[in-house]
Amino acid sequence: MPATHDLLVEGRRRLDGLPGADPALEARVLLRRALGFTEMEILAFPDRPVSASGVRRYRRAIARRAARVPFAYILGEREFWSIPLTVGPGVLIPRPETELLVETVLALAGNGDETIAEIGTGCGAVAVALAKEMPGARIIATDISRRALLLARKNAARQGAGNIEFRGGDLFAPLRRAALQAGLDILVSNPPYVAESAWVLLEPEVRDFEPKRALVAGPSGLETIVRLVAGAPEFLKPGGSLVFEIGRGQARAVKALLKNPWTDVSLKHDLRGIPRAAAARLGS
Ligand SMILES: C[S@@+](CC[C@H](N)C(=O)[O-])C[C@H]1O[C@@H](n2cnc3c(N)ncnc32)[C@H](O)[C@@H]1O
Repeated sequence: MPATHDLLVEGRRRLDGLPGADPALEARVLLRRALGFTEMEILAFPDRPVSASGVRRYRRAIARRAARVPFAYILGEREFWSIPLTVGPGVLIPRPETELLVETVLALAGNGDETIAEIGTGCGAVAVALAKEMPGARIIATDISRRALLLARKNAARQGAGNIEFRGGDLFAPLRRAALQAGLDILVSNPPYVAESAWVLLEPEVRDFEPKRALVAGPSGLETIVRLVAGAPEFLKPGGSLVFEIGRGQARAVKALLKNPWTDVSLKHDLRGIPRAAAARLGS
């Protein structure tokens, strides 16, 4: 019967060299999950024998990871804005750089009772983070994917975020049905922005497991952003803000789109200095 230490070494070896993986950490977390042990138990009792069923569960998880299944899908969880969120196949795994959208919206918000819409909520990461930071806000979170909305609803319930309304449909269609009396204060989105031709170049974790519709916008990659920028003025209050994530290399094209009636256009950079989000105010 192998002991925990043997299994850790075995798992680490199996994941060694996997691009983007952290073999030591991933093997430890997968072992903990497979056995129901705490981190302390794994580290303090390296010679503890592991049951046959525990070994099977662990080896299955390691094999899936070695086959490039995203770590977050194997765990069924990903942290965003320090909030544990349930994630699963068919719905995009939230990325750390998307926290920039939350930061930007919070900086733009006034007293916290704003009406905010998020288009393309995925597993609900941005909407749930905003709902927790702004419990007095009205948040409308939309997605074209039913599977995404199911997961987002689950995450909102898990976090007790009661101030989010979920609506399905294409881009602005759900907002037309949302009874937005005075309009939105802020419209936020992490839209698909990958060009069709770039899809095959993405890591297998993304290309083979994450939903293409969540990432690819069309031939140029800018198609959804163009629709967002063109359609948002109808739903925003005068002086309201549009905040959205952009892809690497899209800053110049996005700035060119944000002309009249947009004002106060700014680009927000991620920790690596890459422009990652655009913000603009609707001129009054
Ligand atoms: C890049 S993902 C962002 C998910 C999530 N907000 C996040 O940041 O992790 C884009 C999301 O937009 C949704 N989406 C794609 N096209 C859409 C459309 N035309 N209308 C509404 N949602 C759309 C996808 O289903 C996906 O959940």
